[in-house]
Amino acid sequence: MKIPVLHPDSKKKIGWDRFILALTVSITLVIPLITVYRHSLTGLYLIFDFFISIVYIADILIESHTAYFEQRELIRHRESVFRHYARSGLTLDVLAAIPFFMILSMFNNPLILKIAYLSNLLRIAKLFRIRKTISRIRNSKRLNPSFIRMGLLIFWILIAAHLISCSWMEITGNPDGLDNTSRYIRSFYWTVTTLTTIGYGDITPSSNLETIFVVIIELIGAGMYGFIIGNIANIIANIDIAKSQYQEKMEKVTTFLRYKNIPHDLKNKISDYYDYLWESRRGYDEASILEDLPKPLKTSVSLFLNRGIIQKVPIFQGASEEFIKEIILNLKPVVFTPGDYVVIKGEIGYEMYFISRGSVDVVSEDESIVYATLNAGSFFGEIALLLSAPRNATIKAREYCDCYSLDKDTFDQILVRFPKFAERIRDMAEKRRAETEEKQKKNNN
Ligand code: CMP
Repeated sequence: MKIPVLHPDSKKKIGWDRFILALTVSITLVIPLITVYRHSLTGLYLIFDFFISIVYIADILIESHTAYFEQRELIRHRESVFRHYARSGLTLDVLAAIPFFMILSMFNNPLILKIAYLSNLLRIAKLFRIRKTISRIRNSKRLNPSFIRMGLLIFWILIAAHLISCSWMEITGNPDGLDNTSRYIRSFYWTVTTLTTIGYGDITPSSNLETIFVVIIELIGAGMYGFIIGNIANIIANIDIAKSQYQEKMEKVTTFLRYKNIPHDLKNKISDYYDYLWESRRGYDEASILEDLPKPLKTSVSLFLNRGIIQKVPIFQGASEEFIKEIILNLKPVVFTPGDYVVIKGEIGYEMYFISRGSVDVVSEDESIVYATLNAGSFFGEIALLLSAPRNATIKAREYCDCYSLDKDTFDQILVRFPKFAERIRDMAEKRRAETEEKQKKNNN
């Protein structure tokens, strides 16, 4: 029977890998204890041992039929797949799968029996192979990467502490005649105090072998302690990169404002602006993040991010996909704070704006006449672009406004390429101009 070549990311393979992960972790916890305590060969344990061998042999079959990626290319060719596995993990997997314990324990010799118990530890070799599954967990996009890193760090420390505790029990034996639980707890306590470089000195080595072991663990502990502290500091700093970068920026800005003696009101306005940026977009600058992406990817992300504005602006509705893409790629997000003059009457216009959130007043030069109030979904600044004339009114933000600006060059190109849009926008501009003129006349009379 020919086993089909599996995809490494298929659901079945991922499920199987998780099962192997759970089994290997359980074995890593249980087998050293069985070895240290020299549990007698009960039938139940032999069945468990046999079961592990069967599962690990099945794993060898599955692994040797799992395609792999080489520079993002999926290699499915049977021979290449097997050669890749033979190079990467076959030896460890075979060592972990052979039921050495069952075979060696058949000999009724105390030395061979001791070797049988120790050979059991070969099963733990599989731990190195499951790193792949663990790195898949690390790459999962659902959880905060810092939490995953912290979880994995704790996991590996506990595994290492467990293995060291068992080794200490094996080396020191049980001179005080403690029961198994107390023996383990004391050994674990010794491991933790030694690894964390605390070493109270209440449990000390007596033989040469014990002393050498203590020296080795102390050296590992000193390195591990530095590693853990460094890692934890790094993880904590990265839990919310956006927040720490934002705080850093705020500190820089505040220092600058203080240094330049900027008036208090202006300072408050700037700080409010940054608060708004944080609340509305977690301080991310959309444009700079998308800058590096290739055009098709950038279009997809922009379409997703700006779907709100497309739905809100009535003149975009029913427009062709080509038109929407063209517009979306050229819209630049801008924020205005309450009271900002977005456009001033009489100035030359270089862009028009679409309002995504907030509202603006369209007012006369001296602000005595309010021609209109424009809300989310509206646009303004089109008249100056269409007629190449100065702005015909002033636009003042009533509150925080999230807008998108469209520059004149793109606007002109779009008008040529999409006549329907041009017609609608011209109609609107004409109506607005007439209305403004009429209101102005009325006011003058
Ligand atoms: P523009 O002249 O470029 O700059 C000022 C903008 O105010 C103008 O474009 C229009 O978009 C907008 N505007 C002018 N008059 C009105 C009005 N009566 N109603 C709504 N918007 C207007």
